[in-house]
Amino acid sequence: MAAFTELVFSGVQPTGNLHLGNYLGAVKRFVEMQARDAQCLYCVVDLHAITVWQDPEALRGQIREVTAAFLASGIDPARSIVFNQSQVPQHAELAWIFNCVARLGWLNRMTQFKEKAGKDRENASIGLYDYPVLMAADILAYRATHVPVGEDQKQHLELTRDIAQKFNTDFSGSIAAHGHGDAFFPITEPLIGGPAARVMSLRDGTKKMSKSDPSDNARINLTDEADTIAQKIRRAKTDPEPLPSEVAGLKDRPEADNLVGIYAALAGITREEVLRDFGGAQFSTFKPALADLAVTSLAPIAGEMRRLTADPGHIDAVLADGAGRAETIAAQTLDAVKDIVGFVRRGPSLQAVR
Ligand code: TRP
Repeated sequence: MAAFTELVFSGVQPTGNLHLGNYLGAVKRFVEMQARDAQCLYCVVDLHAITVWQDPEALRGQIREVTAAFLASGIDPARSIVFNQSQVPQHAELAWIFNCVARLGWLNRMTQFKEKAGKDRENASIGLYDYPVLMAADILAYRATHVPVGEDQKQHLELTRDIAQKFNTDFSGSIAAHGHGDAFFPITEPLIGGPAARVMSLRDGTKKMSKSDPSDNARINLTDEADTIAQKIRRAKTDPEPLPSEVAGLKDRPEADNLVGIYAALAGITREEVLRDFGGAQFSTFKPALADLAVTSLAPIAGEMRRLTADPGHIDAVLADGAGRAETIAAQTLDAVKDIVGFVRRGPSLQAVR
């Protein structure tokens, strides 16, 4: 562990098919992080998934499918720690302690809860309300320094920083007394951005690409076949103008902006660079180029996912191995947290008794 200067943590919910937005905003960036001097942990957050109802058999399949997507996209389970949240009990345990640090007022400001709970708030699960606290526990159980996430998770990352800060302040005396200096938890950096921090619907450039969009043409699923991918891009909504030669010209053209952003993210270049090549081009030229790029980048992932999901035993073994390695780190954090908070625990270390 000490060999790495950074610790990267991120999570993906196993709720429904992954699409291009999840891939470009999250998974593709997780793969890139592996090139840094960092220990990376990538977690399938099944405890988060059940904050809204999940059919048990479907859930089990989705946990394996997200894992397959990680592996098929190039996350190397020997180098990174790939696991599902429910196999590492320290997430839920630390979440409880953080429940006693976080304030009601902080959670009442969370916009994602308001959106997900909708009008019938009285009927939302307590877990849905507490979701951001569990997310803070995910990150801080490993004392992660960097968290790659989509734009929509920014507020949750701020809450994580607030919880870390308040814990460090509330327990400062005990933290120092137990030899952890003046702060126990890091103030985690969110890594948000890139050309596809927000991938929009292919049918409406003002709406996020979403697994719950009633039109399947609005999104590209990670499991779509080559023909489907190409067809969805050819049918994507556009405006009648040619592409501008400057990024400023994409303003107020949400569909054009989205397609250029998708091209940039897939090619690993900036919007400026895309427009250097395609400025002045009609969509009849740009769309086939984008379709080719999307098919070459995504179709192999779909193929590999099909191969991997055919062997659930292999996926389960990857998850079990990852959970063991994750727990080794998280157990050390929880031992220290229990000492800091003032609990009496079985010593010397949780690992020694397991
Ligand atoms: N809330 C995140 C999302 O919906 C998923 C998530 C759970 C997560 N725990 C996390 C992301 C910890 C980053 C770090 O995208």
